[in-house]
Amino acid sequence: MKGKYFKEQERQVLEDIIRHRRTELGKNFLSQEIPESVLNRLISAALAAPSVGFSQPWEFVIIRDLSIREQIKDCFEAENEKAKRIFQDKPLYRQLKIEGITNTPVNLAIFYKPSSNPVLGQTSMEKTGPYSVCLAIENLWLMARAENIAVGWVSVLDEDQVKRILNAPAENELVAYLCLGYVTEFTERPQLEIANWEKPKYKESLIYYDSY
Ligand SMILES: Cc1cc2nc3c(=O)[nH]c(=O)nc-3n(C[C@H](O)[C@H](O)[C@H](O)COP(=O)(O)O)c2cc1C
Repeated sequence: MKGKYFKEQERQVLEDIIRHRRTELGKNFLSQEIPESVLNRLISAALAAPSVGFSQPWEFVIIRDLSIREQIKDCFEAENEKAKRIFQDKPLYRQLKIEGITNTPVNLAIFYKPSSNPVLGQTSMEKTGPYSVCLAIENLWLMARAENIAVGWVSVLDEDQVKRILNAPAENELVAYLCLGYVTEFTERPQLEIANWEKPKYKESLIYYDSY
């Protein structure tokens, strides 16, 4: 075959990174800065993701300014009040820290920018655009893990408010708001599993053969 060939040891490294990728819910973050070159490496990993019609429909806002992050945190607090009401029969929800907006050195807002022209492959399934952005996010997340940097994903936010705070173009859609930082610990299992919020699903219950 032509092209780069990977050896067993390299496959194992990739598997290891995938298995040890975690979400940091928030409490283990350190304030230690992430070097610009490292952050740049993470963004480059994101940019190497597949995208529908090679449309590369992503834009990244790197947020270090604390006053901007405080505005986002206010937005989170307001939305989280709604979530607390939704989960009022689950007292555990109130005990969970589920964001690291101001206790991380860097936040990243990642947007889907719809194309103004038809995109190859997106003509029937419009959501393949935002799906592409999610793939970029996973690339970034795995690269971050390889750099021993943790990622938290904050989705308890009002999209319009976040767009206003960040002066985002009207057509852009917020896909992810991430908090990035070094941590005191990478837990072996998902923190929501450790907290007894959710259990892992069994592989056998998720796979069907030839049809449902
Ligand atoms: C689309 C998406 C939205 C998420 N939103 C949040 C969030 O608002 N707050 C949070 O703490 N974690 C959030 N997470 C992280 C999940 O809770 C986490 O991925 C899950 O618990 C599994 O843990 P793991 O990533 O360590 O495997 C989100 C993850 C995804 C993929």
